[in-house]
Amino acid sequence: MTTGEARRAFEAAYDRAPEAVASAPGRVNLVGGHTDYNQGLVLPVAIDYRTAVAIAPRDDGRYRLRSTDFEGEVRVDGLPDDPLDTHDAMWANYPLGVLVELAAADLTAERGLDLLVAGDVPRGAGLSSSAALEVATAAAAYALDTPGEALPRRDLAEAAWRAETGFVGLDCGIMDQYASALCRAGEALFLDCRSRETRGVTFDDDGLRTVVVDTRVEHELASSAYNDRVRECEAAVARFDASLGDVTSLRDVDRDALVAHSDDLPSTLRRRARHVVTENERVRTAVDALEAGDVEAVGDCMFESHASLRDDYEVSCRELDAVVELAWETSGVLGARMTGGGFGGSVVALVEAGAVDDFRAHVDAAYAERADTDVDPRTFVCSAAEGVSVG
Ligand code: GLA
Repeated sequence: MTTGEARRAFEAAYDRAPEAVASAPGRVNLVGGHTDYNQGLVLPVAIDYRTAVAIAPRDDGRYRLRSTDFEGEVRVDGLPDDPLDTHDAMWANYPLGVLVELAAADLTAERGLDLLVAGDVPRGAGLSSSAALEVATAAAAYALDTPGEALPRRDLAEAAWRAETGFVGLDCGIMDQYASALCRAGEALFLDCRSRETRGVTFDDDGLRTVVVDTRVEHELASSAYNDRVRECEAAVARFDASLGDVTSLRDVDRDALVAHSDDLPSTLRRRARHVVTENERVRTAVDALEAGDVEAVGDCMFESHASLRDDYEVSCRELDAVVELAWETSGVLGARMTGGGFGGSVVALVEAGAVDDFRAHVDAAYAERADTDVDPRTFVCSAAEGVSVG
């Protein structure tokens, strides 16, 4: 559906047909919050909300970019060395960054393109709309140059991640781009962010629903706090390295080391490290539970993860906590936690199919007072979707 819309909008905008179209999904993360940039473990699931990118080559070296979400057209002559800094063109830095990285890695040739973006991944909701745009761009550009060949999904995910961290300049981990590129329908993706090993874990959502509640708030400190957490983790690593040796990331710290050396760290760093170490454990527990079909245990990991993100990592907010509390109070909701960077955005909940209406009703009735807000949340019911695809 999304690709059809991108195709039609491309034809209307550029008066010709696109030569390649690809789409990529947003994601939720069941467990593994803020572990990716600590070389840790994550367990995301792609959602059935997608971004599609349609492209066709030009022979004058120029790039023209449009999105059905934004007015106007962004034009550049040749790929830029630095991101564009005009307000209306900010969104175009994501696809342009990907094209720069693909060309630098010799995955695509550098040449002019017309490009159009369409899709339905909610923006600013912590559902990785930017990764979906990056990965869809990477796949469309690759398919244009190499038609009919299987997508090198990992290479595309890495190029998309380099675009976000290098070109766009956001200090994120690899989870979102890997999830958008590598997730398979009906599966969660167990990803080791250090070795980059992945394993599909059957996410049998028969009788279960993945419900996303987007608080529609994004507190201003979101990106500065994210960077602060990255720095705090680096500071904790330096302390552990001084006492233990050979510690290059919090992945090298286990529970025993945490307990033995926690007095060497100031309280804030100790709590940040405790979140990361225990969150990696929760990912392993959740993977084992999913494989054993024990969805209740997965739900417990989600509630525990949220408490740890709220109390030890301090990246939650009143609105997210309110939704998780309401989830906790609804019978048939197995688990819930914030997903994404935090300070707003969405909660992901694992809900028995028969309890979805009760959960929605409880959120509708009690959220405004509990969260002390007049911003209404939006709810999406998702299923575990396929990662990037062409056509
Ligand atoms: C954002 C980042 C991810 C990850 C999450 C927190 O979504 O883009 O890399 O760090 O926050 O788990």
